[in-house]
Amino acid sequence: MPETSHSTPLHYPATKLPKVGTTIFTLMSALAVETGAVNLGQGFPDFHCDPALLDEVDRAMRAGFNQYPPMTGIPALRSAIAAKVLALYGARYNADSEITVTAGATQALITAILALVRAGEEVIVIEPAYDSYVPAITLAGGVPVFVAMNPPGADGSNFSVPWDKVRAAITPRTRLIMINSPHNPTGSVLRREDLLALQDIVSGTDVLILSDEVYEHMVYDGARHESVARYPELLARSVIVSSFGKTYHVTGWKVGYVLAPAPLMAEFRKVHQFNVFTVNTPMQHALAAYMNNPAPYLELPAFYQRKRDFFRAGLARTRFELLPADGTYFQLVRYGAISTLSEGDFCQWLAREAGVAAIPVSAFYDQPSESGVVRFCFAKKEETLSAALARLATL
Ligand SMILES: Cc1ncc(COP(=O)(O)O)c(C=O)c1O
Repeated sequence: MPETSHSTPLHYPATKLPKVGTTIFTLMSALAVETGAVNLGQGFPDFHCDPALLDEVDRAMRAGFNQYPPMTGIPALRSAIAAKVLALYGARYNADSEITVTAGATQALITAILALVRAGEEVIVIEPAYDSYVPAITLAGGVPVFVAMNPPGADGSNFSVPWDKVRAAITPRTRLIMINSPHNPTGSVLRREDLLALQDIVSGTDVLILSDEVYEHMVYDGARHESVARYPELLARSVIVSSFGKTYHVTGWKVGYVLAPAPLMAEFRKVHQFNVFTVNTPMQHALAAYMNNPAPYLELPAFYQRKRDFFRAGLARTRFELLPADGTYFQLVRYGAISTLSEGDFCQWLAREAGVAAIPVSAFYDQPSESGVVRFCFAKKEETLSAALARLATL
């Protein structure tokens, strides 16, 4: 028997999350570093945020805003969020009782799920889905019920939600439906008809909605973001999540927010105050001051649409098949003309042999699902995109 520092026979409990390992985003970023690949895998910008925002952080720190802020977020930031949501979506949220500042969207999502889902209750998850949803449901003792999106059509249509299947998935145990628009990883965007279909499905039930809208300012080609907040009947049963990280190119700050009617927000805050209590103070002051100018988020669709168009034009000269990209900063491609490898193996090969990191879309499904599609992130400097395109063109 080898000597160990802990010789007592101790039985550690079985894992609560048997399916969870290191996330694919971490693995692919590590592979990109190891291989020197251009990292179009994990979704984060490789350019700087507006220096004016950094000046606001500096000002806030030097003004002494470095101690605990209120549990719900500083009033100035909650008021700025209320004003933005009213101006953009016509929805009136009470800044005191219906808005909470969170440590990014991830903390907001798990907090909402822990607050609202009881053991044995079902949560409808539309796949492919962001990877934090299912572990959060599992930790709450909830049961994920999966509905797969329709794949893109030959007519150029994007991935879409099969609302008839969502309706069929509802049972007396359904507590929550999770939606995400603009959608990671598919880049699809819910339209007015989708929101009306959802409204029809939940009408007359007590089913709640958790709407992940972190890419709300990345909708292209003149379309508008259909926030759940635009639909009063949906708003009344919805928790909406957004992220300053995505909007202001500061994903590492991990600051976001949640909107919900007061009774739902009261429950949210009961959990929030014990899993994070509050969010760092100077960033909140900086964001509150910076939000006075709507230009940065109003200009974001044009900013990212230029990147999307540049990247797509380059990809059109490769052997990848482009899928539609209506929102987010992600572009899906089919690689069937290049390789028959599985998505995971193709991403390994692509990083090592071509020098470009991507994410397999199969990572966004609970059960293995192979469709020969990978995701690139185009929230990158033009020179980064050009370097990646030059490599991809050699395949
Ligand atoms: C759909 C979706 N939801 C939530 C998040 C998490 O956002 P945050 O970094 O603010 O926690 C991400 C980040 O990639 C995302 O793509």
